[in-house]
Amino acid sequence: MTERTVLVIGNGGREHALALALARDPSVVALHCAPGNPGTAAIATNHPVEATSGGAVADLAREVGATLVVVGPEAPLVAGVADAVRAAGIACFGPSAEAARIEGSKQFAKDVMAEAGVPTAASVYCATLDEVGEALDRFGAPYVVKADGLAAGKGVLVTDDRSAALEHADGSLPVVVEEYLDGPEVSLFAITDGVTCLPLLPAQDFKRVGDGDAGPNTGGMGAYTPLPWAPEGLVEGIMRDVVQPTVDAMAARGTPFAGLLYAGLALTSRGLRVVEFNCRFGDPETQAVLALLESPLGEVLDAAATGRLADVGPLRWGDGAAVIVVLAAEGYPGVPARGGTIAGPRLFGSDRVHVVHAGTALDASGQLIAAGGRVLGVVATASDLAAARNDAYAAVAELDAPTLFCRGDIAERAASGDISTPSL
Ligand code: AMP
Ligand code: GLY
Repeated sequence: MTERTVLVIGNGGREHALALALARDPSVVALHCAPGNPGTAAIATNHPVEATSGGAVADLAREVGATLVVVGPEAPLVAGVADAVRAAGIACFGPSAEAARIEGSKQFAKDVMAEAGVPTAASVYCATLDEVGEALDRFGAPYVVKADGLAAGKGVLVTDDRSAALEHADGSLPVVVEEYLDGPEVSLFAITDGVTCLPLLPAQDFKRVGDGDAGPNTGGMGAYTPLPWAPEGLVEGIMRDVVQPTVDAMAARGTPFAGLLYAGLALTSRGLRVVEFNCRFGDPETQAVLALLESPLGEVLDAAATGRLADVGPLRWGDGAAVIVVLAAEGYPGVPARGGTIAGPRLFGSDRVHVVHAGTALDASGQLIAAGGRVLGVVATASDLAAARNDAYAAVAELDAPTLFCRGDIAERAASGDISTPSL
């Protein structure tokens, strides 16, 4: 068996979930995270690093003897960290800077989709407020305005209020104004080596901060997988109509996309539409999806990083369902309260019900405290969605974290059979 030393770049819940899944792969004999967080410290060796510096990451990878680097977040990918690691002769899971533009620029993604014949919302690129006003009137309400560059999930405003739409655009020019997409949203992740594409389980993410999808967009307040309400053939359809044509178009442009292609989709009354592409695993969906993964993750990511994905069969999954409920610090997605104490069971476990760390820290006395917006997530797997949801919320109730809050309705409608889709 090939023995792997893996270095995971990033410090969020997604990276903790990647580390948990990598730690289960017997081929992964040494696991490092940089910068990591208190959760990853329990299962890997953490190292400080400037994650967006290709030189710093490549140096660290050499120092720890990494045979595979896995880059979690989008900012280092867009900054070219994967290119720097590969240039140092080390395998890297994550797209090149050129290919990461599929997330780094909304307009670039629209251009690729047009070339690939992939269905998405009609849109207009606007450099001035006059152009924004015209585009808003062309599409009508609800208005959708997106900052063109990276914005940690917070660059998008969906509103019925035309002046709020204009105001958001004013602070974010250039923007993309687009047609509103109705219908339930799906996140589908595909691992690709630039040619072959393997789907993960489909998931649903909860982007708004409040119950019933009230309030502003966040990085994601919870997720579940799989989707009991998914129409027959959903994943195959997305692979055929969205993922494979996009990966083929990127290759044809001379900028092959190898890594994780995240398709955010809406199942609208007029069919499947891409809402966005991301160039990396989604957060918090990854925490739920990887909790059900049975295939050895190190081997799969290594195969994708080295052009051998065709040798890996379809991924294997546990039965049942997984749910993650995110706990965020008061104030999020605005300025979060820092320093609130966190206590309770399961804070450093990897059992069926476990805590995934995101914005946590240890203070000078070793007390776990809140140190970010999304602070942690409680993940539960169970035989079905209702049971996983119950177990996740029961574990949330056992935490003693007075400055944190969560949504109370993650996976509720799906568990009670309350989501309907137009037939595709
Ligand atoms: P994005 O950063 O593009 O994923 O957008 C964040 C969230 O805004 C999405 O998950 C949707 O909930 C919402 N959104 C984005 N684009 C649209 C659209 N065209 N129609 C309706 N909702 C949208
Ligand atoms: N779950 C949304 C994201 O990762 O962008």
